[in-house]
Amino acid sequence: TLFDQLGGEAAVTAVTTKFYANIQADPTVANFFKGINMADQTNKTASFLCAALGGPKAWGGRNLKDVHAHMGVTNAQFTTVIGHLRSALTSAGVAAALVDQTVAVAETVRKDVVTA
Ligand code: HEM
Repeated sequence: TLFDQLGGEAAVTAVTTKFYANIQADPTVANFFKGINMADQTNKTASFLCAALGGPKAWGGRNLKDVHAHMGVTNAQFTTVIGHLRSALTSAGVAAALVDQTVAVAETVRKDVVTA
């Protein structure tokens, strides 16, 4: 699975930590996460990604469409955020083909997150 190829839960969590660091350093998207517990957020998104990438544990959290419904995220903002995932993967030394496949999995939630 992509989960195995990335190096399992620890590796996915490390990439997710870097992903949110990139987001918080970007004033075009950082404000969405004002007041959010980022340790918690990192754990939840890492769990979600592990499941989506073929890991052994099912996602036990909320439906992503419900979670993001009120946020007004635009397609452009989502694309920006996906770019932050891509750079987190690349800076972790993940091979280009695996970066592309992982990003493609994250892209599957665009329809649930974008509402504006
Ligand atoms: C929750 C924003 C994209 C997965 C959240 C929360 C915010 C947020 C603010 C916290 C909600 C709360 O605790 O009240 C955004 C924005 C995005 C984005 C602005 C893009 C522009 C994504 C993507 C994924 C994702 C790409 C998955 C790959 C999650 C998960 C939760 C969450 C798993 C927690 C759900 C739960 O509480 O069970 N998001 N998100 N989000 N987001 Fe996103």
